[in-house]
Amino acid sequence: MSAYFAEPLVLRSLNIPNRLFMAPMCQYSARDGLPNEWHLRHYTERALGGVGLVVVEATAVSPEGRISPSDLGLWNDEQVRAFRPLVKAVRDSGCRIAVQLAHAGRKASTYPPWQGKGRVPESAGGWEPVAPSALAFDEDYALPRELTPAQIENLARAFGEAARRALDAGFDAVEIHGAHGYLIHQFLSPLSNKRSDEYGGDLAGRSRFLGQVVREARKAVPDTAPVLIRVSATDWIPGGWDPEECARVLNEIKDLGVDFVDVSSGGLAPGAKPPVGPGYQVGLAARIREKTGLPTGAVGLITTAEQADQILLSGSADAVSLGRLLLRDPWWPARNLPADRRRIPPQYLRAY
Ligand SMILES: Cc1cc2nc3c(=O)[nH]c(=O)nc-3n(C[C@H](O)[C@H](O)[C@H](O)COP(=O)(O)O)c2cc1C
Repeated sequence: MSAYFAEPLVLRSLNIPNRLFMAPMCQYSARDGLPNEWHLRHYTERALGGVGLVVVEATAVSPEGRISPSDLGLWNDEQVRAFRPLVKAVRDSGCRIAVQLAHAGRKASTYPPWQGKGRVPESAGGWEPVAPSALAFDEDYALPRELTPAQIENLARAFGEAARRALDAGFDAVEIHGAHGYLIHQFLSPLSNKRSDEYGGDLAGRSRFLGQVVREARKAVPDTAPVLIRVSATDWIPGGWDPEECARVLNEIKDLGVDFVDVSSGGLAPGAKPPVGPGYQVGLAARIREKTGLPTGAVGLITTAEQADQILLSGSADAVSLGRLLLRDPWWPARNLPADRRRIPPQYLRAY
């Protein structure tokens, strides 16, 4: 069998050794946004396992932007220093590393999944979330405070500052988290954005914040480094954000310097009905690729080498992101890459 996923992918000056990406996955294991020994072990092990690009989990651009009090952050320089050993260890394995910059908006201040559901009250270390409109995500979530235009501009700048810190920490690239019902997606979707000012209404208004975020991130990142974006290409809810709007917005902003679109879906509101099954989001990646001309990544229940190869060979996407598979089996890439494309640490060579 061919293994197209073993081919390198070049984005700007970044040479990614293969097309298997580690999908961003929150570990809910940080304190004060600082990576610790858990993160170092977790990411280094997947890097040794052979992925081409590690995308570090949602990392908040401000303390209020954390999904939970245990999220990672890049809003201060202490966090930059704490990230450096992790970034270096991943890069030393021959892998490349990006970080997903995020703000949770109305889905902030919630419990890590294994600790509870919904809102963490202020008495337990939580905070009041912010959002484009004062609409709660669900019954057990907080009613968010509506952002003012000045606060929105500050948040776009916070993305830029976090991007600058990411590069300072040694990351090769940044990924803007525009998916899964978090702040940027809340602006984009007509279901969560009911504003009547310049940040709401038509598509130009709803995508204004994303445009500002991309501009700020691009200013902070050198021309040689790529800026990726993760989108939810649809809300899976009638009357919601859909692939047509998503492609139109990407076409508007791509010249600002977006280099790659990681195509996911959903997360905006309860009641969505995604047709979950093997590769169920691949068609969305293909549509976004076709309509924007941007390289895309496909993600979601991609669990076999045949599937990964087929996605790339059919031109649906330029890379595949592996999520839960890598939590179960960090060495899946090394086992599935052709022998001449494996990055086996020399200390382990006698095992192969
Ligand atoms: C534990 C866990 C944490 C996740 N955290 C994030 C995250 O930080 N950012 C994000 O965009 N997606 C996140 N996701 C979604 C994954 O990146 C991925 O899109 C999803 O798991 C589907 O891919 P899979 O079927 O290969 O797991 C998370 C998923 C899991 C299972």
